[in-house]
Amino acid sequence: MTNPAVDPTSRPRRVCLLSGGGDAPGVNAILRGFVHAARHFSIEVLGSRYGFEGLIDPAGVVPLSLTDIRGILPKGGCVLGCSTRANPFFVEDAGGNTRDMGPAIVDRLASAGIEGLIFIGGDGTMLAAERFASLGIGCIGVPKTIDNDLGQTDLTCGFDSAVETATRAIDALHSTAEAHARVMLVEVMGRNAGFIALHAGLAGGADIILIPEVPYRLERVVAKIREREALGLRFSIVVVAEGAKPLGGDVLEVEGGRPGHLPRLGGAGARLLHDLERASLGHEVRLTVLGHLQRGGSPSAFDRNLGTQLGTYAAELCLRRDYGRKIVVRDGTLTSTPLHTGRARGVHKHVDLSGPMARAARLVGIEFGAGSDEPRAAVGGPAHCATAERGTDAG
Ligand code: F6P
Repeated sequence: MTNPAVDPTSRPRRVCLLSGGGDAPGVNAILRGFVHAARHFSIEVLGSRYGFEGLIDPAGVVPLSLTDIRGILPKGGCVLGCSTRANPFFVEDAGGNTRDMGPAIVDRLASAGIEGLIFIGGDGTMLAAERFASLGIGCIGVPKTIDNDLGQTDLTCGFDSAVETATRAIDALHSTAEAHARVMLVEVMGRNAGFIALHAGLAGGADIILIPEVPYRLERVVAKIREREALGLRFSIVVVAEGAKPLGGDVLEVEGGRPGHLPRLGGAGARLLHDLERASLGHEVRLTVLGHLQRGGSPSAFDRNLGTQLGTYAAELCLRRDYGRKIVVRDGTLTSTPLHTGRARGVHKHVDLSGPMARAARLVGIEFGAGSDEPRAAVGGPAHCATAERGTDAG
């Protein structure tokens, strides 16, 4: 089926899809939605294999046809492949020197007749999209990351599924925690934002949630466990974001960052386990690190539908050659905003500590670990339901 509004005599338009950074449940729905809609608009679609690696490798951009995207809606992962290793602006040679391949890539894409690049990803991918746009190629950003930490959008594709997975894990840990009268620590992903921890912790009925936005005091965590003990509740569930840190302490990394690459976080749960074991709680403490389970598995119905909307909307932007834009979710609807927002406007989003989720968490007795000087939401202010916090930097 082709769109009669498109001039059939003109050269077929050609664009390339790319999923940057880590995979997220729902990315296949984005690809599928885009390919279907682009076919409708007579736009030819190619895909970059393994994220940015496909742009660096001269043979890494391949056709993406209807056959390639058939049956992928319920599948986790990404049929194009993903990589967190490649950054086209910092390509390392054998001697460890880095070079910027951006201009050469844009030249190669232009000679292959590719007019636009569609970047599916989080903050790092959007910064790369901004850089490619400044080199003169049409670019569109599509928000995707389980972390939900991308600025200016209320939601990113993959977040809902990750929260669902983490919530089910917390549910499962509850019964064994109770049976053994243990303190169960669950470390979740999210980088330097606490969205997964807060949303899964609240949904899973956690007693304590430690997020990067609130540096915690160990004594508050211990006091909450003891308070429960005094009430006859002999177990506790503590959700720890990987970016959580004690007051005065640092975020822990398992691998440091380097130019063009983020550090790999990890160890927040192990640190808390170590500290709680020395606190003479009278309970055994155990740690479960959920890790990449949160990125795997079949996407939720919500992420499939969000992905389909994002993919088809991106194809509509391509049809109108409305390049240089990033799709964002605002109040349940899709719109777009310029890619070139500048760092001052905020690439990152953090949990709004006065937002409805944090406020509800406090009011059901969840401890964030900061104690009396913890920023608190005013009780009695306007309460509204949200599927995710709106970012403080959302413009
Ligand atoms: O950004 C998504 C994410 O899953 C983060 O939550 C996590 O810190 C990181 O990626 C893990 O990256 P990798 O897959 O490279 O270990």
